[in-house]
Amino acid sequence: MTKNTPAPALLKDPNSGKEWELPIRSGSVGPQAVDVSKLYGQSGLFTYDPGFTSTAACDSGITYIDGEEGILLHRGYRIEDLAQNCSFLEVCHLLLHGALPNAQEKSAFEDSIRYHTMLHEQMLMFYRGFRRDSHPMAIMVGVVGALSAFYHDSTDINDPEQRLLAQYRLIAKMPTIAAMAYKYSVGQPFMYPQNSRSFTENFLYMTFGVPAEEYAPPPAFVSAMERILILHADHEQNASTSTVRTAGSSGANPFACISSGIASLWGPAHGGANEAVLSMLREIGHPDRIPEFITRAKDKNDPFRLMGFGHRVYKNYDPRAKVLQSHAHEVLESVGRKDEPLMALALQLEQIALQDEYFIERKLFPNVDFYSGIILEAMGFPTSMFTVLFAVARTVGWVAHWNEMISAEGALRITRPRQLYTGEPERPFVPLDER
Ligand code: CMC
Repeated sequence: MTKNTPAPALLKDPNSGKEWELPIRSGSVGPQAVDVSKLYGQSGLFTYDPGFTSTAACDSGITYIDGEEGILLHRGYRIEDLAQNCSFLEVCHLLLHGALPNAQEKSAFEDSIRYHTMLHEQMLMFYRGFRRDSHPMAIMVGVVGALSAFYHDSTDINDPEQRLLAQYRLIAKMPTIAAMAYKYSVGQPFMYPQNSRSFTENFLYMTFGVPAEEYAPPPAFVSAMERILILHADHEQNASTSTVRTAGSSGANPFACISSGIASLWGPAHGGANEAVLSMLREIGHPDRIPEFITRAKDKNDPFRLMGFGHRVYKNYDPRAKVLQSHAHEVLESVGRKDEPLMALALQLEQIALQDEYFIERKLFPNVDFYSGIILEAMGFPTSMFTVLFAVARTVGWVAHWNEMISAEGALRITRPRQLYTGEPERPFVPLDER
């Protein structure tokens, strides 16, 4: 053992008295991990960890979270610094290529993304197959999955150039797909991208512009949307990213993998939470009713949870929620809703919850979703589009992790968890007339 190799952990079976040494692995920062990858072969024992609360499933150099301290780093940079000083595409470059771009790299990267903003014209037919009242996430899952039927030159996962092309295509086309999902739901014509606009401005233009009029989004909207995209760009091995990795581990093509990530993101415990926050605030309706809802959130017999509160990893204030709180004020002011009652209600709810023993004991703080819904609603997005915006932002994280997994040293290994079987042991077959 070298000086820097930590001593192994010992696992002892009290029944047989047998012992196994389990190597301890260290990352660059953060907790060490017990390597159990050889445990079953050596001992015949599995580890048991539903929800993966204590399990690292891969090595990754993209994002680091210190949940106790409320710190989020992308490639070593604090999220607050990135949100304050970078454009979304600079953050995309950082996540994909490991470094912030210099001026020349930034311009070349923007050009590469811009080149891919349009959709194959035939894809527009897909939208017309959906009911007008379809949830836009249903359209996203379908249309993004269908990209694999259109871009055959970027589905060979063993070719790094095709992988890069697929990543750029997904980042570039996602705003177009999302905006079209919205336009379809309101019965307005699709807006084609205008590449003279920035990534974020283009997205707002395709969403809120109409062919009959000129459209320039208010600067406060562009700035807030840019921050929302940055703050949602990646969050290490969350449910949707793990889904993308799992789908990709079988060698599936990138478009199919990202479609599976969108499906996972859709759930209310993940990307659907900001939609749920707004519904919850509307249901509470008045500050006088906050105590009633706090009591419900604490009641184990009531399925109600305080949406936008709590996080699997953060046991402190989510740093992304802090950035969004200030932008919420800015956007509300820019649309003349400085005294927005929902914002006042959210602030009071946060204050009351943070002083409540139940939330203090369990370290439940506001997460990124607590304020994002208020901003998006003020900008004019219907609640059904909130998770779609999350998907637009998270696409870069998904493709970065997918590519990291495939380009990692060693053969791609299929993700295949084991189980603790609790069903019937083997029993004799009973013919139909004897059952
Ligand atoms: N309201 C009331 N109680 C809560 C809440 C909440 N929002 N969140 C957790 N708890 C309680 C939970 O009942 C449990 O209590 P006890 O120990 O007495 O059984 C304890 O806190 C630990 O909760 P958990 O369910 O073990 O935590 P988890 O890591 O499995 O779940 C979570 C994390 C985010 C799913 C959960 O906190 C939650 O449902 N929050 C509301 C939904 C939400 O805001 N989701 C957005 C997450 S951030 C964006 C993203 O990553 O997509």
